[in-house]
Amino acid sequence: MFGARCLLRALRLLRALRSCSSAPCPRHKPSAKLSVRDALGAQNASGERVKVQGWIRSVRSQKEVLFLHVNDGSSLESLQVVADSSFDSRELAFGSSVEVQGHLVKSLSKRQNVELKAEKIEVVGNCDAKAFPFKYKERHPLEYLRQYPHLRCRTNVLGSILRVRSEATAAIHSFFKDSGFVHIHTPVITSNDCEGAGELFQVTASSKIKVPEENFFNVPVFLTVSGQLHLEVMSGAFTQVFTFGPTFRAENSQSRRHLAEFYMVEAEISFLESLQDLMQVMEGLFKTTTMTVLSNCPEDVELCHKFIAPGQKIRTYAKKQLSNWGADLHTEHEKYLVKHCGDIPVFVINYPLALKPFYMRDNEDSPQHTVAAVDLLVPGVGELFGGSLREERYHFLEQRLARSGLTGAYQWYLDLRQFGSVPHGGFGMGFERYLQCILGIDNIKDVIPFPRFTHSCLL
Ligand code: 4AD
Ligand code: MG
Repeated sequence: MFGARCLLRALRLLRALRSCSSAPCPRHKPSAKLSVRDALGAQNASGERVKVQGWIRSVRSQKEVLFLHVNDGSSLESLQVVADSSFDSRELAFGSSVEVQGHLVKSLSKRQNVELKAEKIEVVGNCDAKAFPFKYKERHPLEYLRQYPHLRCRTNVLGSILRVRSEATAAIHSFFKDSGFVHIHTPVITSNDCEGAGELFQVTASSKIKVPEENFFNVPVFLTVSGQLHLEVMSGAFTQVFTFGPTFRAENSQSRRHLAEFYMVEAEISFLESLQDLMQVMEGLFKTTTMTVLSNCPEDVELCHKFIAPGQKIRTYAKKQLSNWGADLHTEHEKYLVKHCGDIPVFVINYPLALKPFYMRDNEDSPQHTVAAVDLLVPGVGELFGGSLREERYHFLEQRLARSGLTGAYQWYLDLRQFGSVPHGGFGMGFERYLQCILGIDNIKDVIPFPRFTHSCLL
């Protein structure tokens, strides 16, 4: 009875909303607002009245006609606006924001399918071209653009990189959804150090905030270095989970592949018993995401390959496996291995136990004594994925924790091995390193909108 009344009320609300939206039509049909991408993709343009908003990328003034190129971030290509020379004004300059109304028509030029014949051009915001740090027709180096984190998204190259970033994000979510994974929001603030490397940023309340206790959370807390341990909690109830969020590491590194804040894609799979099965998911994620990006934004990828990394190719199929044992791998070793295998992605498995965190599964293979760990190394970047089978055996884990003096802090983690423990494993992929790899971008600071690294946190 109660349910039916609620349903009726919801239906009445919906009906009321619908009647709001069907208000009487004005006499003149207003112009339909179109994105540049949709305008460019219009088939059979035959003079429809449309409105386009964006920023001027170029101005060409001829005796009787004025050509503008307007971009709104929806595509690499800009829309050509053709206007009568009477529209010409100093305000129509590179960088100004405009709203153009007119008719979408077939273009006579071979360079574009359609163009916008302007009836009305309104300058929404002027741009002082002299003071603007980017110049019309100039291709600025990425290092130069990096000095302007508040403006660099207006350039073609950053536009392309950020569109690919957005497309890859959606593709990663689709891959996991299509494979039956449940998305988990793991916390940003945590009291654990998953990797045990001590590269933590501590979080404290600002001194202005009066908290009765000295410490806001009663315990020291940090920005997360990985969502893995929280995913492992969830993998005790869901057999396939993933998370994709910001991750923080206080690594004192200015390298071209390290950030203090980066995005990590992490997955955890229950009832998983072999590294081979884990590697299959890693490979599937890499291939599927890359295929989607290539088919959804080929022009953006091409721009990077053409002007930033000439000769760059994405190799999604090649793979070799090595079984390695010995000392830890440094960047130079990683590069050597990848080169040695013919510049293709390389899986390295079974690392020495002494070098790896407490959670990795003991292979019980003395005298080498390795853990079931796997890294995927890729050309130009080095380590892209890190993963492992997890130690699901209570007594093994108990001993590892005791040896590291972590028993007290990780009692809850040990509990997971007491209540319906299952063999499981997972991995993390650095999202910025993935973008570097597929686009051939040398410096990680150019594939994230606002890079944070040692001695730098602009904006
Ligand atoms: O190899 P890592 O440290 O693995 C973990 O954190 C595991 N807990 C993940 C898991 O199994 N769920 O980090 C995973 C990946 C690295 O392979 C690298 O691509 C990236 O994260 N990464 C960084 N990317 C940018 N800047 C940094 N400072 C990075 N540190 C790691
Ligand atoms: Mg690693």
